[in-house]
Amino acid sequence: MPASGGVLRYLKAKGSVDARSVNVQVREACVRALAELPADRPLRVVELGGGAGGAFRYWMSLLVPFQRVEFTATDRDGGLLEAYREEVVSLAGKLGISATGDDPRRLRLDDGGRMIDLRLREAVLPEGFPREDEGSFDLMVAQSFWDLVPPGTALALGRHLLAPRGVFYATLTFSGGTRFAPPHELDRQLLHCYHASMGGERGGDPYAGERLLGHVRMPGSGFSELATGRSDWRVVPTDQGYLADEKYFLLTVLGFIEKELLASTEVRDDQLDWWMGIRRRQLADGQLSYAARQQDLAARRDD
Ligand SMILES: C[S@@+](CC[C@H](N)C(=O)[O-])C[C@H]1O[C@@H](n2cnc3c(N)ncnc32)[C@H](O)[C@@H]1O
Repeated sequence: MPASGGVLRYLKAKGSVDARSVNVQVREACVRALAELPADRPLRVVELGGGAGGAFRYWMSLLVPFQRVEFTATDRDGGLLEAYREEVVSLAGKLGISATGDDPRRLRLDDGGRMIDLRLREAVLPEGFPREDEGSFDLMVAQSFWDLVPPGTALALGRHLLAPRGVFYATLTFSGGTRFAPPHELDRQLLHCYHASMGGERGGDPYAGERLLGHVRMPGSGFSELATGRSDWRVVPTDQGYLADEKYFLLTVLGFIEKELLASTEVRDDQLDWWMGIRRRQLADGQLSYAARQQDLAARRDD
């Protein structure tokens, strides 16, 4: 089923925010670790929660030294994976790279010297990856993802999927902080409930960014930390209003918060209506700023 227009627009709208948030030191550590992997055989990459391919161009920028790349993009949503393929075809067109393949779940990119074989695969975490996948990837990447699955999933999957000395790279992992400006007297209460709602029955982890780092540093984790650093999202209006489609991005974030808090027994409807009404008006007037605390991490799988 094709993905809904609203979800796709949100995932595209977040692209400009993502691009300025990624931590450059962590990126460099990841690139250095990749340079130690053999370049005379295809580099095998797996992406978790790839969505509509919003990060594909970024991942490609890390892989320039490799002549052959086998890239497996996964997500639980088959509709988003269709959009992922379209995104890559469109990107290849813009970059003047050939993109071929009749199979809707495969695509070959060829720029004359370098070949990238893209495979799209539906997989739901934490299960989703059978025994045959064991140790079959050199690089495991995910963006804006690890807070959506239970704590511990990321490294357990990394131990399962990565070959010895394989690289684990997580960008823009949410880490327990949401701030709006101007301040509002209900911010503390409402945002606390919002974060709490990501865990519990929903099965996610609102502190995933920090927790990932803690798990890597634990003795016997099976990983060595390469680098970590903040990658907070920040959206601030300019004199010309919000950049790119970031007003829509922020509108959707407010919608996520509202949806979670409607289900909360700790927030009264009149409190939520008051807070949402003010936040939406501030957004419409170009007066609302937003920041989310996030963390990037690169680590290497032990031998
Ligand atoms: C916030 S989006 C990020 C998409 C993409 N990485 C990006 O940054 O544009 C999270 C993605 O994870 C997928 N997802 C959420 N829970 C999942 C799960 N348990 N297993 C697999 N995919 C999941 C969603 O379908 C969605 O595409």
